[in-house]
Amino acid sequence: MVPRNPIDRRRFLQMSAGAAVFASGCSTDKPPAAAPGTPAGTTPGAPPGTVPTRVVGPTDPVVAATEASRATTGKLLQYQLRAAPATLALGPRQVNTWAFDDAIPGKVIRGTVGDLLEVAVKNDLPEHTTIHWHGLALRNDMDGVHDLTQPPIKPGETFNYRYVLPHAGTYFFHPHTGTQLDRALYAPLIIDDPNEPGGYDVDEVIMLDDWLDGIGRTPDDALRSLTTDMAAMPGMTPGGVREFESRALGGDAGDVDYPLHLINGRPTADRLTINVPAGGRARLRLINAGSDTAYRVALGGHRMTVTHTDGFPVIPVEVDTLLMGMGERYDVIIQPTSGAWPLVAVAEGKGVTVEAIVRTSDSEATAAPAPGEQPKELAGRMLALTDLKAVESARLPNKTPDVTELIRLTGSMMPYGWGFDGAAFPNRPPIEIRAGQRVRLTFENTTMMWHPIHLHGHTFQVGDDPAGPRKDTVIVLPGQHVSIQFDADNPGQWMIHCHNTYHLERGMAMVASYVP
Ligand code: C2O
Ligand code: CU
Repeated sequence: MVPRNPIDRRRFLQMSAGAAVFASGCSTDKPPAAAPGTPAGTTPGAPPGTVPTRVVGPTDPVVAATEASRATTGKLLQYQLRAAPATLALGPRQVNTWAFDDAIPGKVIRGTVGDLLEVAVKNDLPEHTTIHWHGLALRNDMDGVHDLTQPPIKPGETFNYRYVLPHAGTYFFHPHTGTQLDRALYAPLIIDDPNEPGGYDVDEVIMLDDWLDGIGRTPDDALRSLTTDMAAMPGMTPGGVREFESRALGGDAGDVDYPLHLINGRPTADRLTINVPAGGRARLRLINAGSDTAYRVALGGHRMTVTHTDGFPVIPVEVDTLLMGMGERYDVIIQPTSGAWPLVAVAEGKGVTVEAIVRTSDSEATAAPAPGEQPKELAGRMLALTDLKAVESARLPNKTPDVTELIRLTGSMMPYGWGFDGAAFPNRPPIEIRAGQRVRLTFENTTMMWHPIHLHGHTFQVGDDPAGPRKDTVIVLPGQHVSIQFDADNPGQWMIHCHNTYHLERGMAMVASYVP
């Protein structure tokens, strides 16, 4: 997205020190002016005495105070990340793309709740970028939305992200600029809870991704053909003539015809193997890092027990398959019987699959299943949103909403444009909320397509039942509406948007704005 002044300037200045201060504070080794009310030489929000004090960036005192109230372990985690052009091998194919440190996915960042995470992000891309830490209720000025929570990181610049890991679970990070997420710029972010019982032998991140970059075109070409060719050629999808249909998604499944789908950066031609000790249990952390593809996931010959969604625990539920939108995560426990089994992700409605192998340690001699097998579980009992109930400790208190707002999802394929209430970002006015309020939003989908709607900075309860699952991304099917509730406990300016990269880039985004 390339928003400029997406919200009222006055409101922005209320919550942040403003662009002028940012400009001096976002690069490494350049001590910025301290934020108002912050003594020079201390780090806003850092627990005194537990970490070296170093001013990283200016911040709003309200945001800093919220950060200071988070529990900390006193441990500092430091990472470096370089976003740059890279040549990657995807099975037999070499592609030129953009990646974090020449890897797809980028290297995992992993810590424990309460650790202070510092990530120095060097931008060696030919365009500006930022990093968004998807799903975290983190301090607002580290949320990584350019021109909303920070200035863009220009080519050649470095930006230091620094925040306390606020809650446990399966997350990921990616740029919040243009179509960059549809390249290789994504990586898992795993936050452990020291009190979690565990009870599995293998802990594996499974990142799903739809791929086109460097195979004839780039994501920017795809966006261009959606916005131009579509208008010129009614009835045609870019890169092909097929319409993607899915019953489970209520009709049109997607806009972009991807030549390749990946599990942890690997196509079926170079299948990943997940080794599980005989009789053991594996926790799979499924992350849909795609841009325009829902994945239907199943393990041949087995059911899966869903234990978490979007990082938060649910009362375990056993299913044959589940369907995940872009930005959603599901943690599942599998207990494979002896053998080698296909773990298959179907690009829903697109007729293409990608797979990995789950192999038990007593089955080294067993031949792997032939690629392309479609386990019957894919057509079995599918997880429904209504199957998910938050465990007691993950529930929001039962409260009457202080703010309720209806948000209509709007837009069309021709011309290719998306928005909320008929307005493309930044024209839909922000929702104004006050700290301490219970906020209830209803998303009503008036379009012909499904949309995975994502809220920054909060994990909401789906529906009005306090046992509704806690999520940060929820699928809204065509013609349907979904209500969410959240507590306004993390001040700042937060995006609400569709996690389809192309819909986001073409306007399906707005802001939830804390006001005094
Ligand atoms: Cu992963 Cu604003 O999104
Ligand atoms: Cu959308």
